[in-house]
Amino acid sequence: MKYVFVLVLLIIAGAAGVMGYAVVTRFTHNMTETPRIVAGERVFTMPAGLVPRGGELTIPREARDQAARQPNPVTPSPESIAAGKERFQVYCTPCHGESGKGNGPVTARFIPPPDLTNAGLQKARTDGYWHSYIRVGGAVMPSYGEALSSEESWQIVNYLRTLAAK
Ligand code: HEC
Repeated sequence: MKYVFVLVLLIIAGAAGVMGYAVVTRFTHNMTETPRIVAGERVFTMPAGLVPRGGELTIPREARDQAARQPNPVTPSPESIAAGKERFQVYCTPCHGESGKGNGPVTARFIPPPDLTNAGLQKARTDGYWHSYIRVGGAVMPSYGEALSSEESWQIVNYLRTLAAK
């Protein structure tokens, strides 16, 4: 009788052990040990012409001439110019200066940017070209696509147009 009791006890202990092992295994062998795709590890090619929902197609720097042909969808109203001025003062004055002449405090230790008030430059560049400069950056100018929306970038372009030297 005693042996039967011990045997039953052993079977129960064994079953508990197996179940415990299963629980521990399930909780420790989590997704970090299964085949997975790590962000940035592989590049997937997106189907051509894909646009994120609620987003806008970003034209890369290499296709600036294509971006330059984009029309400005934001009318240069006093409100849009004021909004653009406000953004310009926050993001652009360190290099381009308050006046846009390219004399910001950073330029002493950085490549001086062009004078944006220059009439010749103002004429040579389309709104789309400058919008692209803000969105994806220039040769050394950083891109502001992360910080500024497309609309804010057009507003800044509208503000820059008011700086044109007559
Ligand atoms: C870190 C300094 C820096 C900041 C900040 C900066 N720029 Fe520039 N920007 C430059 C430099 C340098 C150039 C000269 C072109 C080049 O080499 O990228 C330039 C060129 C430009 C041009 C002229 C492009 C052309 O050739 O017609 C425009 C327009 C412009 N920036 C607008 C802006 C606006 C708007 C902002 C703010 C959102 C801004 N920049 C912020 C450095 C800067």
